[in-house]
Amino acid sequence: MNYTITIVAGARPNFMKIAPIIHAIEEVKENGQNLDYRLVHTGQHYDKNMSDSFFEQLDIPKPHINLECSGGSHAEQTAAILINFEKELMANPTDLVLVVGDVTSTMACALVAQKLHTKVAHVEAGIRSHDWSMPEEINRLVTDSITNYFFTTSGLANSNLLKEGIKEDQIFYVGNTMIDTLLKQKPNFIEPEISRRLELKPKEYIVMTLHRPANVDEESQLKAMINEIVNHTRELPLVFPVHPRTAKILERLNISHPRLHFIAPLSYLEFNHLVENAKAVITDSGGITEEASVMNVPCMTLRDNTERPETITLGTNELVSTNPKAIKPYLDKLFEGKWKAYQTIPLWDGKTAQRIISHILDLTIK
Ligand code: UD1
Repeated sequence: MNYTITIVAGARPNFMKIAPIIHAIEEVKENGQNLDYRLVHTGQHYDKNMSDSFFEQLDIPKPHINLECSGGSHAEQTAAILINFEKELMANPTDLVLVVGDVTSTMACALVAQKLHTKVAHVEAGIRSHDWSMPEEINRLVTDSITNYFFTTSGLANSNLLKEGIKEDQIFYVGNTMIDTLLKQKPNFIEPEISRRLELKPKEYIVMTLHRPANVDEESQLKAMINEIVNHTRELPLVFPVHPRTAKILERLNISHPRLHFIAPLSYLEFNHLVENAKAVITDSGGITEEASVMNVPCMTLRDNTERPETITLGTNELVSTNPKAIKPYLDKLFEGKWKAYQTIPLWDGKTAQRIISHILDLTIK
């Protein structure tokens, strides 16, 4: 009998995390292991450039099912995923449900699985911002409170879990699957159309992304933030791929500046080409701070806290805060050429997914 893992993916930051896990399963399968998987897309993200292009570029097989749970409030989206994933899991029982990251799909599917007495593995477990105003922090806390096997990206994540009473033999420090994907795909990055159109030169432009409710849901905050960035970036072009949530607000704000270029969300290979060649990245995303660090690109995080402190201590990231006035000293430092360089983060080496699958085999079928 095959041991099966149901792998859940729902939103953009999940796709680069599941790709190497699926490839690692396929590899051990080819080597004769009785391991199989079923891929469930909850449908949380559904646009071509938020979802489909990631499947194509990262060579992720078509999901076995798409639950089409998109849109609505957090409660509506959670409820839709609970109902639909329960049906899916009852129709297709599995040995293990593997969830990644911290999006609504992660939490909802872990909950369904545990209530159906199915073991749960959480990849990127144990990281904490301690900021309950972030939906992702709630998702992390709920998921980790009902997880059986915790796969972590940092030593600090292990300590957080131990403090919360998780047993040591349930926790596996394996590294970062997002970085598996980054290192594998680096040679395949694609120059985006915007780089050609604006004739962007390496290290002579800045990339921006903002989508967190704390930054974009308040119009005056978003406007002040963008103005401050524009005012203190000298002559450099600013390229801003806009998340759908941010786009809705920007439409009303009417911000424009000759150096500021709003573009649609980019595919994975194009976005990371843009980041790799940028002078710096200004963002409120968590995942981008990890990717920028490994690519040794200066990164400024417009948040008041981070669940990924290793990107600051060992990476190229600085926590600027959400105060628009706080950005100038960091930009000055960037232009003075005084930014710190990336130091290696242990186990962010491209082999994390293989370690995860090897642990799962040890725990279950070996
Ligand atoms: C979600 C994740 C966040 C992650 C982000 C990356 C949660 C709680 N948040 O936030 O951690 O960093 O994804 O993108 O899960 N929309 C589209 N097309 C899409 C996807 C979304 O138009 O393909 C719209 C939705 O309809 C909604 C808005 O964008 O109006 C926000 O989408 P949602 O999935 O609720 O959360 P994100 O803000 O994307």
